[in-house]
Amino acid sequence: MFEILSKEILAQSITKFVVRAPYVARKHKAGNFVILRVNDHGERIPLTIVDSDPGEGTITIIAQTIGKTTKLLSLQVKGDFLLDVAGPLGNPTPIHDYGTVVCIGGGVGTAEVYPIAKALKAAGNKLVTIVGARTKDLVILENELREISDEFVVTTDDGSYGMKGLVTNALGNFLKKSGSVQGVYAIGPIIMMKAVSDFTKPLGLKTFVSLNPIMMDGTGMCGACRVSIGGETKFACVDGPEFDGHLVDFEELMTRNRSYMDLEKVSLERFNGEPAGHECRTGAKEAANA
Ligand SMILES: Cc1cc2nc3c(=O)[nH]c(=O)nc-3n(C[C@H](O)[C@H](O)[C@H](O)COP(=O)(O)OP(=O)(O)OC[C@H]3O[C@@H](n4cnc5c(N)ncnc54)[C@H](O)[C@@H]3O)c2cc1C
Ligand code: FES
Repeated sequence: MFEILSKEILAQSITKFVVRAPYVARKHKAGNFVILRVNDHGERIPLTIVDSDPGEGTITIIAQTIGKTTKLLSLQVKGDFLLDVAGPLGNPTPIHDYGTVVCIGGGVGTAEVYPIAKALKAAGNKLVTIVGARTKDLVILENELREISDEFVVTTDDGSYGMKGLVTNALGNFLKKSGSVQGVYAIGPIIMMKAVSDFTKPLGLKTFVSLNPIMMDGTGMCGACRVSIGGETKFACVDGPEFDGHLVDFEELMTRNRSYMDLEKVSLERFNGEPAGHECRTGAKEAANA
């Protein structure tokens, strides 16, 4: 059992948890994720390890509430226990001093790019960070990223904060004025990672994306996380989650992620519809915390 030591609401539907998980904290490297179950009737969901403190034996995870399990997770409070936290999983991001790198986070992907940005900065790179969100209230980890970045730009779709526009506009502006960039790391909605990869491909600018297919076991056995990279089948959990963005079949990934949409909707509706106090199979916590 893995105790929740703190909980913080970062933005509407985005929650940060610090969880006691000493073995995971000891082995964590940037780019790793965990697969967790909230309770013994719950499904397994992958979440990036945003930060870790091996001394304290803690890891930080940040989750956006989009379906049943992330909703259930969002209802947990300090002092509750998560049933399993398996990890660290996935290949760590190769970290070297490349020169100048641009880290781009879209929405909750900002939390996922943060550990990579931090490690790249610590390795000596000049770090340019671009954070994109639909609107001001959804910008997360601004202070943390500003602090480690040599240049920092926020873009919002509605212009309510920072530059109005998309992260690709900000990347274009930076490339125009600066010239030389050795690598781009883009994490966020699939459509955003595709847009960044399409933008950088003709420029020959190496671009890495972290893929978020549906995962189950996280150990390369179930095949749920199958993705096509340069025409080859890979499993994101053991071969990734980070891949060369110019080789990813994003259309296939979007189609596969939509496979269970109807069932996921029903599952969330049932979860939301449980009468208060009902002892449901997904955990009765929501009634207590409502
Ligand atoms: C390696 C990896 C790391 C991740 N890290 C984070 C993280 O740090 N923070 C975070 O908030 N999320 C992260 N995700 C995504 C997270 O795992 C999903 O949002 C979660 O599994 C959804 O579960 P659910 O039951 O709440 O929603 P579901 O009911 O499963 O899905 C609800 C809706 O979201 C869509 N969806 C389902 N799975 C995914 C997915 N994997 N990615 C995007 N959309 C999806 C569905 O199409 C559906 O419409 C990560 C995914 C991977 C593979
Ligand atoms: S999650 Fe099962 S093979 Fe990757």
